[in-house]
Amino acid sequence: MFEIVEVRGGYALDSRGSPTVRVIVRTAGGSKGVALAPSGASRGAGEALELRDGGLRWAGRGVGLAVSNVNEVIAPRLKGLDVRMQRYIDGILQALDGTPNKSRLGANATTATSLAVAKAASEQLSTPLYRYLGGVGASTLPVPLMNMINGGVHAGNELGFQEFIVIPAGADSFIEALRLSVEVYWSLKELLKEKYGKSSLNVGDEGGFAPPMKISSEAFKALEDAVKRAGYSESHVLLGVDAAASQLYDSESGTYKVDGRVWTAGELLEYYLSIASEHPIAYIEDPFNEDDLESTRKLTGKLAGKTLIVGDDLYTTNPKHLARGVELGASTGAILKVNQIGTLSEALDFANLALKTGLKIIVSHRSGDTEDNFIADLAVALNTGLIKTGAPARSERTAKYNRLIEIEEELGPTAVYPGVKAFK
Ligand code: PGA
Ligand code: ZN
Repeated sequence: MFEIVEVRGGYALDSRGSPTVRVIVRTAGGSKGVALAPSGASRGAGEALELRDGGLRWAGRGVGLAVSNVNEVIAPRLKGLDVRMQRYIDGILQALDGTPNKSRLGANATTATSLAVAKAASEQLSTPLYRYLGGVGASTLPVPLMNMINGGVHAGNELGFQEFIVIPAGADSFIEALRLSVEVYWSLKELLKEKYGKSSLNVGDEGGFAPPMKISSEAFKALEDAVKRAGYSESHVLLGVDAAASQLYDSESGTYKVDGRVWTAGELLEYYLSIASEHPIAYIEDPFNEDDLESTRKLTGKLAGKTLIVGDDLYTTNPKHLARGVELGASTGAILKVNQIGTLSEALDFANLALKTGLKIIVSHRSGDTEDNFIADLAVALNTGLIKTGAPARSERTAKYNRLIEIEEELGPTAVYPGVKAFK
């Protein structure tokens, strides 16, 4: 029943119109797992490689090589194996690739394969994916960190920071958190239209608005006003920011360009402190360049107990990179993106290391994402209490929220929505 009888790679499109890898895994028992690889735009230097064909076809973004790696290299090795042997199978993917960054097979090929194997196993076991991955303990719905104003490389505006985030921490269930977020999203829409005109209603890569703002204080102010207009306060809704600061960094001068001026790391640190004192900021991601653990550590120290400081490009879901951060006490949280490392088992190792050392894990989408909702189940399985999957709009984002609604209903009275506790 559990024997893998077919592994088939093919093309799919992501939310930006980029080709991506789809893998279907079938078992002898007739079950099927389908997974699609997501794709980042502000990628960390330490990430596993997304294999692209180059050339003219598919605007240079073809994944023909990655797909043929699934069909020619991976499939023959996985056929006949028990689909429940996730770690063993992920080990085979690592060994077949043989590089430190999945550059031979492509992390798009290995990620889609690894996730499709897990889905096929849960199907064959007739066990929901969150329960298969997380066991009996999987019961915590995540607080959604909703990117409602897009900037940086995710939008065609001048905002330097990449994501301005709304956090419905004061809700008492996941569905209430969604309701509250949707109300804020619609208030924000109204308010932006009044203030910046209807072109400000265009959305960026993650479904948040991309208004023609120039500096981040405008974005924070708009979010705060939207929260108020929706009838809420800091006790219901907190704010956050993903600076994605590597994108703002000039390695020659060692400075950052954002909000109309140039900053040293020390000045930028002071700037974050002033932002955090003026707004209810519970979350800051990648505040400095991806190799600057030291500045990140300083900010973590200054905002201890108030704001979660999180590494994304800083760690790239790689246990080795995280180990250095943990040693220094650089951050209080870490982003988990399976395709940054390339297999589910390695991502779980990363999560376990982080959780063991007291760090918060935030399960995350990519800016180029798909209808695949794997991360919704993964967040519940890990009981991390935190997820980043964009605005409450655009189907590649709502696919995850809609799955979380389903899971909450299924868990019934045993579902836990941690609210602010997710930050403590
Ligand atoms: P990416 O951005 O998917 O474009 O890398 C998301 C993030 O930085 O959190
Ligand atoms: Zn990020």
